[in-house]
Amino acid sequence: MGILEGKKILVAGVLTEASIAFATARIAQEQGATVVLSNFGRALSLCQRIAKRLPQEAPVVELDVTNTEHLSTLADRLREHVDGLDGVVHSIGFAPQEAMGEGFPEVAWEHAATAFQVSSWSLASLTQACRPLFGDTASVVGLTFDATVAWPVYGWMGAAKAALESTSRYLARELGPEGVRVNLVAAGPLRTMAMKSIPGSAQFEEAWETRAPLGWSVTDTEPSGKAVCALLSDWFPATTGEIVHVDGGFHAVGV
Ligand SMILES: NC(=O)c1ccc[n+]([C@@H]2O[C@H](COP(=O)([O-])OP(=O)(O)OC[C@H]3O[C@@H](n4cnc5c(N)ncnc54)[C@H](O)[C@@H]3O)[C@@H](O)[C@H]2O)c1
Repeated sequence: MGILEGKKILVAGVLTEASIAFATARIAQEQGATVVLSNFGRALSLCQRIAKRLPQEAPVVELDVTNTEHLSTLADRLREHVDGLDGVVHSIGFAPQEAMGEGFPEVAWEHAATAFQVSSWSLASLTQACRPLFGDTASVVGLTFDATVAWPVYGWMGAAKAALESTSRYLARELGPEGVRVNLVAAGPLRTMAMKSIPGSAQFEEAWETRAPLGWSVTDTEPSGKAVCALLSDWFPATTGEIVHVDGGFHAVGV
């Protein structure tokens, strides 16, 4: 029996087969879950195409986290596919090019604001949108890139990740009494569309190559997907507001 047997899970953010969300959705199905996917705009049709490559084709609902109507109607649209939710995966991140690279103090608010809305605030708004579908317990899992330090070229995406990490703790605090756990996986660098859009992100790959004690593959999303599925499962019943590093041990060493 799989660790997610009988669970119903929304996985937001499948764009390509390289997406962390794709590995998560695949492993979740292999572990017995019923999975619904979401994405938006041009990514929606890509997501629909990729949904066919899962062990079982998953239904796809439209969700742009900047669209209030999408959020307010999400629960009803999900009810067309599932009668409740046991888990939500927030695998969403975006910052405009202007908000990344060097020149951090020069970035205009509108660009930073987009990064915060899509990459941080949306963990709360997505959780709130799914709340009517939760039963006695539920698990919300998001993805971060360790925001305890400042990175080269990551810019306002890094500040947005710090806000995401704080947001997950506030959600954990307020929703814990309802049986909702909220945790993050801090993944090392992976060659997804989101990472490739960051100018100069090859620097991360080089750093991980020499420093990660366990070694690190920038094309292997399986360790991150497995960790997300573990946090969705009943095997972390007393864990919330936590950040699990899936980075080959990079965060634990100096040089
Ligand atoms: N790739 C890495 O190195 C890495 C490392 C640590 C954490 N992460 C995080 O993992 C998560 C998933 O990213 P990924 O690397 O798999 O890349 P990805 O490009 O495959 O996924 C990002 C997803 O965000 C979605 N998205 C963007 N704007 C949206 C919006 N307004 N509404 C709804 N969805 C929107 C995109 O359509 C896409 O599906 C992100 O939070 C990312 O920051 C990535």
